[in-house]
This record gives sequence, C-alpha cells and structure tokens, in this order.
Amino acid sequence: MTQDSRSLVGPVLISSRTFGNYLSQFALTESDLLAGPVLDCPGGASDFAAELRSRGGRVVSVDPSYDLSVTALTERIDAGRAQVTEWARTQPERFSFDENGVWEHSPVWEGSARRFLADFTRDSAEGTGHYRAALLPNLPFADNSFALAVSGFLLFTYADQFDYAFHLAAVRELLRVASEVRLHPLNDSSAAPYQDLDRLLGDLDGVSARVLTVRGTTDPQENRTLVLTR
Ligand SMILES: C[S@@+](CC[C@H](N)C(=O)[O-])C[C@H]1O[C@@H](n2cnc3c(N)ncnc32)[C@H](O)[C@@H]1O
Repeated sequence: MTQDSRSLVGPVLISSRTFGNYLSQFALTESDLLAGPVLDCPGGASDFAAELRSRGGRVVSVDPSYDLSVTALTERIDAGRAQVTEWARTQPERFSFDENGVWEHSPVWEGSARRFLADFTRDSAEGTGHYRAALLPNLPFADNSFALAVSGFLLFTYADQFDYAFHLAAVRELLRVASEVRLHPLNDSSAAPYQDLDRLLGDLDGVSARVLTVRGTTDPQENRTLVLTR
C-alpha cells in the first residue's frame, strides 16, 4: 500500500487517552507507577497524571500545548476529538460507532479531557509545575530525573510528519532523563508498522530493548509497546 492510499489521521492532534488506557497500552500496574517519578511526554489532554497523583504518584507531563490558555487549549482538544472522530468514521471496519453515530471512544476521551483540564487549571493557578510546555527532542530536565518515561501516540504515530533523525533524537532525550522509556504504539495511524524500528534500535548504544505484546486501546491492531532500559 502506498502512503497516499493509507488512512493517516492528519495533523498532530491533542488526544486524551485515560489512565486505564495508559496502564493497558504500556503494560504497567499502579504499583509500577508508584515506584518512582514518572514523565508523560507527550501528555496531551490525558487524565493519566491527574489520576496517578490522586493515587499518590509523582508525575510531570510535557506537551508544547501547555503554553496555551485554558480556553485555547480546550478549543484545540475539542477540535482534535472532532478530527479523530471524523477520521474514524471513514473506517467502519476498524472503529466502532453506536446507533447514534457516536464513536465508542469519544465520550471516554471527553471525560478524560475534562479531568485533565480541571487539573491543568488548578496547576496553572497554584504554580505547582506538574504540566510543562516543551518540545521533544529538548526536555527541560536534568539527566536521570525520572524512573520511567511513557510516550504514547507521537513517535511512530506521525512518522509521515517527523523524520528518522527526530525519532532518534527524541528517544535519546527521553532516555537521558529517564532510566526506562516505554513507547506505544509502534505503528503509524494507519496501523502500518514503523519502518525504521530496527535501525533505531541499532543506533541506541548501550540500551536494552524489549517489544511487548499489549492490548491496544483505540485500535486492537496497535498491540506493541517498546520498552527501553539504560
Ligand atoms: C495524539 S496526542 C497524544 C497525547 C497522549 N499521550 C494520549 O495518548 O492521549 C500527541 C501530542 O503530542 C504533542 N506534540 C506535538 N509535537 C510534539 C513534540 N515535538 N514534543 C512533544 N509533544 C509534541 C501534541 O501537542 C499532542 O498533544
């Protein structure tokens, strides 16, 4: 299949997968997450960090969209959910809609975004620094700041928009700040596997890599997670 005939989701959108989605797609338990400081990059509009903090975890989320006002961020999140819903609607063999035409993930993502926005608004008012605006491949943290970094639905997902050099630099940067990095999924938005995965693993000196089979939460075909350990 050529790239043009594949169904790619389009410009990078701000999605809002849930804490439960993260546990499943990254093959993590709550106790894994409570073991040490966690980085979520990109955090998007996920309630992952808010939920983990409410369970006693320490977590920082990074996303370039965190320098937007709450109003502008809310508009971008809603526009992203509309974009992905319309894209999913073109692929009924891949995604489920109910009898009213509502995509099964839409209300779930909406609830996650609401919890994220409440937490983000509180964080902005209190200046607690749980949400940091930054862009891979440059993170504003010292070496080894985190026990674990989770990175979902940016690398590999948008391989049509980010080249190999970006992917390598981004993974190296995540490994600089965290001793373990989990990346999911290992395909682009059309479900095509990332072509340069072997090359990427070969270029990561001194890093051990495992590919786990996991339960994909948006699309069952998205069932692989890469675990990198320094
Ligand atoms: C599809 S969302 C994923 C959010 C969340 N991990 C999830 O699964 O719901 C992709 C996010 O990547 C962010 N992003 C775009 N370019 C980035 C970059 N260079 N570094 C970090 N995040 C970036 C976008 O702002 C967007 O929120």
